[in-house]
Amino acid sequence: MSKRQTTSAGAPVPTNETTKTAGARGPVLLEDYQLIEKLAHQNRERIPERAVHAKGWGLQGTFTVTHDITKYTRAKLFSEIGKQTEVLSRWSTVAGEQGAADAERDVRGFSLKFYTEEGNWDMVGNNTPIFFVRDAYKFPDFIRTQKRHPKTNMRSPEAMFDFWAGQPESVHQVTILMSDRGIPKNPAHMHGYGSHTFSMWNDAGERHWVKFHFRCQQPIENYTNEEAKTLIGETRESFQEDLWNMVSEGKFPKWKLFIQVMKEGEEDKFPFNPFDLTKVWPHADYPLIEVGELEMHTLPENYFQMVENAAYSPSNVVPGIGFSPDKMLQARIFSYADAHRYRLGTHYEALPANAPKAPVAHYHKDGAMRFFQNDTGNPNAYYEPNQYEDAPRADPSVQEPPLRIDAEAYRYTQEVTDDDFVQPRALYLEVLNDDERKRLHQNMAGAMGPCSDAVKERWYAVLERVHPDYAKGVRDAVESAPALPVTPDTPTRAAE
Ligand code: NDP
Ligand code: HEM
Repeated sequence: MSKRQTTSAGAPVPTNETTKTAGARGPVLLEDYQLIEKLAHQNRERIPERAVHAKGWGLQGTFTVTHDITKYTRAKLFSEIGKQTEVLSRWSTVAGEQGAADAERDVRGFSLKFYTEEGNWDMVGNNTPIFFVRDAYKFPDFIRTQKRHPKTNMRSPEAMFDFWAGQPESVHQVTILMSDRGIPKNPAHMHGYGSHTFSMWNDAGERHWVKFHFRCQQPIENYTNEEAKTLIGETRESFQEDLWNMVSEGKFPKWKLFIQVMKEGEEDKFPFNPFDLTKVWPHADYPLIEVGELEMHTLPENYFQMVENAAYSPSNVVPGIGFSPDKMLQARIFSYADAHRYRLGTHYEALPANAPKAPVAHYHKDGAMRFFQNDTGNPNAYYEPNQYEDAPRADPSVQEPPLRIDAEAYRYTQEVTDDDFVQPRALYLEVLNDDERKRLHQNMAGAMGPCSDAVKERWYAVLERVHPDYAKGVRDAVESAPALPVTPDTPTRAAE
């Protein structure tokens, strides 16, 4: 049986299709507040899209602990084997706007919100273990090169490769981006990485540095450029469709969580900076330690409410999980909550997607959309110190162990050295096979084809530092491809 339709104030309405007019032909009466309400709501249906990672797909699911890591962490979500925690995922592309096609070549965001009993832990990672830059000053510029050119309003390969050529440490990530894994088939067929070095601390107050790896239990599957081109011609929503179909058919995607662990103090013996986001920790030196399984089994009832409104932030950690000195991570700790206050509003953490399952008790007060009850449980306890026994009190037992820092404050430049090419070289020579290398050359050539000769030469010089075969392979692929029009503000596609 249908429900009685109402205004947003709950009053029943006589019609939802006929405007109130003075006479059959109009004009319209201003007193038709229902029409005004309807049009006004439509005007407010959109919120700012994320400045990056605007296009996304999400599921709800469960994380189950399968192995004991309590010697590393006191985090409650890892406290015993078999323990389950609800999770909200959001995967995304980085550069495209909200309407961008899913199967574009791009890094994929890999965000997980664990609703633990001691608050939300957000793992806001990517499907790559590393990143393009290692100093936050460079992030907004990097993103600008991925977005639209101010004049052409089109994406600009010239800007992308100009920036990367000036940032040779980006070659590791660009190699992954241009490899087969640059276009995953859908989120179920890619790994997720915390990418940064994080930390864990245990009940004894011992700290370990940690990397998070979510390894997909579905095979790694990717599209070639040609396959993606055909697919995007058919549908722009292939990830959303695949996730919908998988979950509807009961084929729930799964990942296994592994960690790599380094004891605090070992970082100085590491051959390079273990907090450098452009580098991995080799598996042979830091083997993967299994922790648990993630199964994503539920399609959110309302996409906007649960996925668009989701506010993931690296600052959301729980007792037992902490940060590291990684400069990029430190900047992200500020940036995300700032973005959420702008994009979603002051009380974004109280929205259904973000509201912790743990009790919330703070002294933040009013502001726009203060729609929830007085959460101190005592209406008089709205300041501190106060006399009330049932008022919220900080718990010194969740204080992180002190981190020893003995250094001079300064703007330290991390120069590009030969070390920066060791890992991309290992990826190129040892991990990729001949066919994968060939496709890498072709994918990169396709992406940089429209660039000016000056930018191409600068980029070949970077590839040369990885390996001469890499530079030659890409150069040959560029030179054997049909020439594309070259201007500093090159469109991404040759004119017909
Ligand atoms: P391993 O041989 O133990 O690991 C290689 C890793 O590379 C595997 O995780 C593999 O994933 C992954 N891989 C394979 N193809 C690609 C690709 N096209 N793009 C991104 N990753 C890919 O060696 P090491 O740990 O010594 O690392 C060697 C190099 O592998 C590194 O320099 C780095 O470039 C890359 N790498 C390393 C990772 C790490 O955490 N150590 C993680 C990912 C990449 P799978 O197992 O699914 O095949
Ligand atoms: C989204 C900033 C680096 C992964 C965002 C957003 C901002 C941002 C402002 C939008 C947040 C929102 O509106 O909800 C930055 C800054 C960085 C940085 C300043 C560097 C200093 C990284 C890195 C990773 C990453 C290194 C991965 C390891 C993501 C993901 C999202 C995101 C996955 C989407 C989150 C979601 O699904 O809602 N970033 N970012 N970012 N970023 Fe970053």
